[in-house]
Amino acid sequence: MSKSAGPLDDAGIEIDGVGKTFRWRNKGVAEEVVALGKVDFTVRSNEFLAVIGPSGCGKTTLLRTVAGLIKPDRGEIRVGGRPVTGPGEDRAVVFQHFGLFPWKTVVDNVKFPLRMRGVPDKEAAATARANLKKVGLEGFERSYPHQLSGGMQQRVGLARALATDARILLMDEPFGAIDAQTREFMQEQLMKLWDENKKTVVFVTHDLDEAVSLADRILVLSRRPSRVRAVVDVDLPRPRWDYDVRSEPAFAEARRTIWEMLRSDLVEEEEGAGIHAI
Ligand SMILES: Nc1ncnc2c1ncn2[C@@H]1O[C@H](COP(=O)(O)OP(=O)(O)OP(=O)(O)O)[C@@H](O)[C@H]1O
Ligand SMILES: [Mg+2]
Repeated sequence: MSKSAGPLDDAGIEIDGVGKTFRWRNKGVAEEVVALGKVDFTVRSNEFLAVIGPSGCGKTTLLRTVAGLIKPDRGEIRVGGRPVTGPGEDRAVVFQHFGLFPWKTVVDNVKFPLRMRGVPDKEAAATARANLKKVGLEGFERSYPHQLSGGMQQRVGLARALATDARILLMDEPFGAIDAQTREFMQEQLMKLWDENKKTVVFVTHDLDEAVSLADRILVLSRRPSRVRAVVDVDLPRPRWDYDVRSEPAFAEARRTIWEMLRSDLVEEEEGAGIHAI
């Protein structure tokens, strides 16, 4: 179904039989975790895709593989039909654990990828400031990351990704550390930005409501080693930020479908661990 959906457009992503096993030695003993089983999926150009799945199932690994930061040991990722061999200017990443340089100020963190791309200092500073404003961090440009709360650091990471204006935005629980009210505001901002300037977004989240209210489609991953468990379409009209999506029947339906899947995974896990309801 998704295979035919314009993967050769510049901003389409083909995940073709991708697998990843982490191997290391612990006190001389070889250990391994199969993080990604065999993942096959195509992200359409300009779609907003949410990725959801049990903790530790391989969501971050999958995102980092698409980013070119992890090399898969099976299969291939292609962006616009071209194999990914490393990070590229077409993809910007918002990391789960912020990924900021602690020794750089907020504005210098946001400027960094622009300077790496050869953008002149003045222009990079202006773009950085404009994007910090978008995420509500005006006035904190000269602070250092350790002087900010977790949620504020996460917003710096978001501003940094937005500033590059990459066609593909890879977001790993970008609002996970943000308090509930700011989170809703950030979701709304992101929807507005995406409506104005379409990008392909891959958005990893733990939060079902967040996935359903933002995404066109939701990729549900199985427990580790992860595979595609299901793909759920979210049939809600856009723009979504000017009405109450959560009161729509389609919202409840998509939410219930996904919850049933995640719930059955949790039940299996508990049974596997020998925990049973009495
Ligand atoms: N660099 C690494 N070395 C060894 N094991 C790793 C490494 N990175 C991830 N793993 C393992 O791979 C599995 C998948 O991890 P990953 O971080 O991708 O999961 P996740 O779905 O993002 O989890 P969460 O929802 O908690 O963020 C886990 O068992 C993890 O311990
Ligand atoms: Mg993760």
